[in-house]
Amino acid sequence: MSKFKPESAVSSTLSIPAPDKGPRHVAIIMDGNGRWATQRHLPRVAGHSKGVERVRDVIEAAVVRGIDFVTLFAFSSENWRRPADEVSLLMRLFMMALEREVSRMHANRIRLRVVGDLSRFEPRLQELIANAEARTANNDRLTLTVAANYGGRWDVMQAFRSLIRAQPELAQQPELIDEAHLAPYLAMSYAPEPDLFIRTGGEQRISNFLLWQLAYTELYFTDTWWPDFDAAALDEAIASYRARERRFGRTSAQVHEPVPQDAC
Ligand code: IPE
Ligand code: IPE
Ligand code: MG
Repeated sequence: MSKFKPESAVSSTLSIPAPDKGPRHVAIIMDGNGRWATQRHLPRVAGHSKGVERVRDVIEAAVVRGIDFVTLFAFSSENWRRPADEVSLLMRLFMMALEREVSRMHANRIRLRVVGDLSRFEPRLQELIANAEARTANNDRLTLTVAANYGGRWDVMQAFRSLIRAQPELAQQPELIDEAHLAPYLAMSYAPEPDLFIRTGGEQRISNFLLWQLAYTELYFTDTWWPDFDAAALDEAIASYRARERRFGRTSAQVHEPVPQDAC
C-alpha cells in the first residue's frame, strides 16, 4: 500500500489537520505561456513547449524539497474554447511529454496520475495515459497529478453521480448525504487536500481548478509567467506559505494553545 494512503482521508472541514512544516501537497495553475511567447514575438505554442520544460524542473525541485504531491493544471474543461490549432498543438505536446518523460519519472520513483474527463481525448492519448499510470503505480517518492480536461465543477458532479450509482438508496434520503460520502468519489481522493496553491501569470482566480479541495488551501499568486517559474520561484512560494498561520476557523490564540491529548 502507498505511504500516502492514511492521510488522504483527512478533510479540513471535518477535522483540524495536524500542523506541519509542509507544504506536503502543492497545486499549481501554470499560466502565462502564451504571453511569455507573445512578448518574445514567438507563436504561443513556443510558450507551451517552454512550459513543459519547467514542469520537469519544478518536479525535480519538489522531490528535493520533500513535497509528496504536486498537482498541475494542464488543460481546463474550458480550454476547448481556444482556437482548434492551439488545442491540437496542446494535445500533441501532452502526448510527446508522456512519451518522453515517463521513463525518467519512473526512474525517479514518481507516480503519475491524470485526472479529468479523459473520454474526450483521442484513443492514442488515453492509451498513453493509462500505460503511464500503470507503469508508475507503485512509485512512492512523489505523486504528480496532471489535471487534463479537468474542471472543479465536473469533478463534484461526477463524484455525486458515482455516489448515487453506488448507493442508490441515498437518493431517497438526501439528508443522510454528507461530505464523507462524496469525498471518496472525487477525482483526487487518493491525495490530501492541497496545502499550497500557486498561480503563475498574474491572474488572481481559480479558473475552475480544484474547487472542493481548495477549501482551506493557502493561495499564492505571482506575476511570473510559467515558462520563467523555476526552483527559486518555488522557494519564494514555499517561504510565503511557511510564514502564514493556518487557523482552519479557529482563533490565533487557539492555534498556539498546546493540543490536549484527546483532541481530534
Ligand atoms: C497556460 O498558459 C497553459 C494553458 C492554459 C494550456 P496560457 O496559454 O493560458 O497563457 P496566457 O494566459 O495566454 O498567457
Ligand atoms: C487556467 O488557465 C487553465 C490552465 C492553466 C490549464 P487559463 O488561461 O485557461 O485561465 P483563464 O481563462 O485566464 O481564467
Ligand atoms: Mg492563461
